[in-house]
Amino acid sequence: MNDKALESAYQLLEKSIVYYKNKPIGTVAAVGGDDLAAQNYNECFIRDFVPSALVFLTDGKHEIVKNFLETVLSLRTKERIVAGHEIQPGVMPASFGIKINSKGEEEIRADFGERAIGRVAPVDSMMWWIILLYIYVKSTGDTDIAKRDDFQNAMKQVLHLCLKDSFEVSPALLVPDACTMIDRRMGIYGHPIEIQSLFYGILRITQELINGDDSEENFSLLATAKTREQALMNYVRIFYWLDVQRLNEIHRYSTEEFGVNSINILNIHPTSIPDWVVDWLPNNSGYLVGNIGASRMDFRYFSLGNLLAILFGLTTPLQSEKILRLYENNWNDLIGSMPLKICFPAMSGLEWEVRTGSDPKNAPWSYQNGGNWPSLLWTFVAAALKAGRGDLAERAYKTANDKLYQENWPEYYDSRSGRLIGRKSNTNQVWSATSLILSNKLINNPNLLNMLPS
Ligand code: GLC
Repeated sequence: MNDKALESAYQLLEKSIVYYKNKPIGTVAAVGGDDLAAQNYNECFIRDFVPSALVFLTDGKHEIVKNFLETVLSLRTKERIVAGHEIQPGVMPASFGIKINSKGEEEIRADFGERAIGRVAPVDSMMWWIILLYIYVKSTGDTDIAKRDDFQNAMKQVLHLCLKDSFEVSPALLVPDACTMIDRRMGIYGHPIEIQSLFYGILRITQELINGDDSEENFSLLATAKTREQALMNYVRIFYWLDVQRLNEIHRYSTEEFGVNSINILNIHPTSIPDWVVDWLPNNSGYLVGNIGASRMDFRYFSLGNLLAILFGLTTPLQSEKILRLYENNWNDLIGSMPLKICFPAMSGLEWEVRTGSDPKNAPWSYQNGGNWPSLLWTFVAAALKAGRGDLAERAYKTANDKLYQENWPEYYDSRSGRLIGRKSNTNQVWSATSLILSNKLINNPNLLNMLPS
């Protein structure tokens, strides 16, 4: 990383720190005045704070991360009522900000989706919180924090919520559209891969962090988590996986099979295979598809879900290798002029109208509909290093390096190859800068991977 880029990224991080009663408790999504792309970008988003936290931890600044973990925990129990029903205990906010109340005092106000555009409660926040707790414990050695009653209860509530019996037959977790990093309607309701990877991550981590021998109830909760972890892993490795061999099988699938011995259990119709995927998928590559359900296979490629699957060990080593070869072979589509494509390909025409509700912000090849997001770079770098493809990590990193800094840390880029700064993109977006700092650290010291769940 050139010194100027590094310096500028750190300056932005410093300016982004949120203080409550003089204590640092998080970082805002973007630094700016009234010109922010969204009003709530002056709040601290749980998912955006993750790369900030990793930078702080690797720099030995543990306090802010601890304060953040405690703050989010305290918010969870306070604000749960939304017009007549209670948000489940366990759910954590998408973001929080500091407001001055009528008495002139500072107050932390959280958003559980009740103020967010589209009014969707995030599902990923509670998962990222647990993952961050694990990383904090690993990098500081502070095992006591996870043993505290309030932390134990929060983890158990999240597990209860995710493992609760519902109408499901599949081991994957059912969630609404817009409940993840992709927080607008994008046709990801159902079983999106991003949530399955995070879910798998917390199922594994909580078995380490929850005191299983404390009570019968804990013991049985953890036993259920273990069984679900195995079931989810097998399910994802088989049914989400797509390579040329699988594509051939699906192309020749029988349909309308009834009973326990059926092969095409989800009744995927071969005619639903989109044209683009047949030419796009190289022979030596593969990936986890975006979503599956009854007669539904969303063939789109989603970066975050795939990269987290590699990081958390949800994919087999061979599958991880093949996902990285997908990047290598389709570099221009998935990395292009600015790493990383959030999903490929973009939806357009009638599909865009129906699935996004004609959302102009998610126009084809823009924002969440096929835009390029620098904030995803660190997950690519980490996954590539883990899979032994440090060459790809460095190549992607070099693409972002000077450009991101010279263009003032945009939030996202537009066009098929990500050449244009996003039409409505903010600048000074904090996770664009922290992602670059973190990528630099990981490339220089791959041992840092050890602090992540694997
Ligand atoms: C956008 C992104 C979301 C992010 C937020 C703040 O809404 O889609 O993932 O957390 O901006 O940066």
